[in-house]
Amino acid sequence: MLTNRRLCLAARPTGIPGPQNFSADSVPVRAPTTGEALLETLYLSIDPAMRSWMSEGRGYQQGIPLGEVMRGGGIARVLESRAQGFGAGDIVQARLGWQSHPTIAGRFLQKLDLTLGSIEDWIGPLGLSAVTAYFGLRDIGGLRPNDRVLVSAAAGGVGQVAVQIARIEGCRVVGIAGGAQKCAFVASELGAAAVIDYKSEQDLAAAIGRACPDGIDLYFDNVGGPTLDAALAHLREGARVVLCGRISQTHAAEPYAIRNLARFAAAHGRMQGFLVFNYHDRYDEARAWLAARRRDGSLRQKLHMLDGLEQAPVGLGMLFRGENMGKLVVRLSPKSVATRA
Ligand SMILES: NC(=O)c1ccc[n+]([C@@H]2O[C@H](COP(=O)([O-])OP(=O)(O)OC[C@H]3O[C@@H](n4cnc5c(N)ncnc54)[C@H](OP(=O)(O)O)[C@@H]3O)[C@@H](O)[C@H]2O)c1
Repeated sequence: MLTNRRLCLAARPTGIPGPQNFSADSVPVRAPTTGEALLETLYLSIDPAMRSWMSEGRGYQQGIPLGEVMRGGGIARVLESRAQGFGAGDIVQARLGWQSHPTIAGRFLQKLDLTLGSIEDWIGPLGLSAVTAYFGLRDIGGLRPNDRVLVSAAAGGVGQVAVQIARIEGCRVVGIAGGAQKCAFVASELGAAAVIDYKSEQDLAAAIGRACPDGIDLYFDNVGGPTLDAALAHLREGARVVLCGRISQTHAAEPYAIRNLARFAAAHGRMQGFLVFNYHDRYDEARAWLAARRRDGSLRQKLHMLDGLEQAPVGLGMLFRGENMGKLVVRLSPKSVATRA
């Protein structure tokens, strides 16, 4: 009998989440009923938002009840299908949860179009992080050629795509990242004109001023807090600030108080947040654009791959310690996707 290996939420996080918050078990797989398919998980996307799903309070999504399988999206292969339109061997994406063999209703599955890109492309440059960068820059940020663009967490999953989209569209892009290795990656692999290692700067606002001597038209903010504040000090007339994420504030004891709103007002700035899920109806548009840039070689994507389901909680903690470079993904090992009891 096939077993489904699962990681369930065992304790709500008080600081950076990790293995201490999860319990592992193995249960018999659930045979699909009419309309469902049995899957084997191939890849799981690890995302900062998962930290908020682990909390009790209601964020933009309801917290996960204790004892339930950890929520998370990924890519899987169909093993057995009683869902119309899906057959054994199809590659699908869905909210799989942290488990090796979920059984999920067909209406929640999306078959991947592998003519657009490989399976790994679908978790990377065609995945939700990349789609987030696309809509954040274009729809929220109103990206225009020749914009002077600043991107924080520039070596991460969303950030690396944001840097490249802006560069491809003819903008001068400056990245902010933590550490020399990440900064070298953002400059040499992603093509940023300049990179700021915020961990080695005493005065981040001054460093942004040096890297962006003509100011900022568009700031794509992945981190919030003092980094957002420092960027506001350099806004040009009509600047746009995209509030994509605020990872620096996840574990802050007190919310950071922004100081540079006067500059924001003087620049007639516009600041707007967004959730990528609200663009669901237009994912195909983003993926068509991203796939074309993959084909012509202008869009690169670094995956930070961890092997084995048990690495998922480790990976989640890595995001909050800045230990990932590129899009963090867990690949279920052949062993874990084929375990038989
Ligand atoms: N709006 C949406 O719909 C949406 C969708 C997806 C993601 N997001 C947001 O986008 C952001 C990036 O997500 P991702 O999945 O691509 O993660 P990621 O950038 O791959 O990983 C997180 C990165 O954040 C940086 N970081 C962590 N703690 C920090 C701190 N205290 N101060 C400054 N930087 C810190 C680290 O990079 P450094 O080493 O460079 O510091 C870390 O590698 C997150 O804020 C996430 O919540 C939003």
